[in-house]
Amino acid sequence: MLVSGEVGDDGVMKAIDYTKLVQEFGTKMIDKELLERFERVTGKKPHRFLRRGIVFSHRDFELILDRYERGEPFFLYTGRGPSSDSVHVGHTVPFEFTRWLQDTFDVPLVIMLTDDEKYLFSEKRTIEEVQSYCNSNVKDIIAVGFDPAKTFIFSDFEFVGGAFYKNIVRLSKHITLNQARAIFGFNDSTNIGRIHFGAIQGATSWASSFPHIFGTDEKKTSAIPALIPCAIDQDPYFRMTRDVSARIHYAKPSLIHAKFLDALQGPGTKMSASIDESAIFMRDSAKQIKNKINKYAFSGGKVTVEEHREKGGDTSVDVSYAYLRFFLEDDEELERIRVSYESGELLTGDLKAICIKELQTYVAAFQERRAKVDDEQVALFMGTRPLKWAGNPRAPIVVPQVVQGGDAAAGEGGDGKLTKNQLKKLEKQRQIDAKKAQKAKEKEEQAAGAGAGKEA
Ligand code: TRP
Repeated sequence: MLVSGEVGDDGVMKAIDYTKLVQEFGTKMIDKELLERFERVTGKKPHRFLRRGIVFSHRDFELILDRYERGEPFFLYTGRGPSSDSVHVGHTVPFEFTRWLQDTFDVPLVIMLTDDEKYLFSEKRTIEEVQSYCNSNVKDIIAVGFDPAKTFIFSDFEFVGGAFYKNIVRLSKHITLNQARAIFGFNDSTNIGRIHFGAIQGATSWASSFPHIFGTDEKKTSAIPALIPCAIDQDPYFRMTRDVSARIHYAKPSLIHAKFLDALQGPGTKMSASIDESAIFMRDSAKQIKNKINKYAFSGGKVTVEEHREKGGDTSVDVSYAYLRFFLEDDEELERIRVSYESGELLTGDLKAICIKELQTYVAAFQERRAKVDDEQVALFMGTRPLKWAGNPRAPIVVPQVVQGGDAAAGEGGDGKLTKNQLKKLEKQRQIDAKKAQKAKEKEEQAAGAGAGKEA
């Protein structure tokens, strides 16, 4: 979409300027305070993507932490456009992160496969083609390790209809052609399917699109927000959705944005599913991974060993180092590698060997899980069925979790009963809320009084 590296004066691709994107899009950087709060609230050390600024920006993530803290419902939403059946390591990044969020928060997750998008946005692809990619992509996604009890995967061609379609139309009714142009850069020759597509991707942010998960009481479901982990290029869809949500009194989705993994050719270059040398693919053998890294991974090392020993390597452009930042879990080991490479002690060949080993392990583990995914599992994940989740076990008020049957609205916790302790806490919270509301009212009245005074 709108995000890609520029070509510099020297003809070489420049790295994407993520700070500039945050300013242009009007999102917020994820800072130390937010991560500390995250750890306090969840009791979990932030994922390495968060610790290392790979997942780097957000919109209203703190509101999701508030909800988690209080035991109020929310859900996760992410997606993929099935544009090919060769999935590379870069594709797995947002999904790895989403799985970790699902483990952390214990909430429902919906995964959208935009087969319609990949048909509309390509001159060549047929509907049959994108549908076949969809099938193999779903298996790849399942192999990342999602919990079937809490995960619903759907394809647009199959799932659009019913409550979801109502929301799509609600959203599209509130977007003018002018706005769509300004947000996505469409022109007079853009096919109208593309212009409309944003409503489909956006409406998935609303819990009321999924009555089989959240129930049919729209008064309740329209108040349940999504947390959307995605690559930063998807932000425009959700900026638009957030605007419309506010206007129709639906919960606005929160977002958490990831950076891209560079292609083997270095900063600013993009992995391409159709260029084998550009990426490590999830079906590459251990030998292919070794050969690709050795042959193509852009190096920040110096030309001769002598010069390297003297001046050291540049980790800011080195692809093997960049991949280790994404995939090596141990912070201290990563730091040792950085120091050693920058001092010239560690040579490019050594660094590549570490990177090769790490990627081989990562890809082999994926392949082992992928081999076990069959059509039955696909049918399970894609079935429209109730999900089961528990939310925050430490929350003072355990609000609506397991939904029995399609019709039950998100009720009052597992068996519908609250314990004495929960009731007590609930009562306390009510009193606090009532006091707050009273204060707000007084303030408002004062302000109104002052306003009236001025007018008179
Ligand atoms: N448009 C995305 C793509 O081309 C797919 C997608 C749909 C998505 N909904 C999403 C990605 C939500 C992230 C989050 O890949």
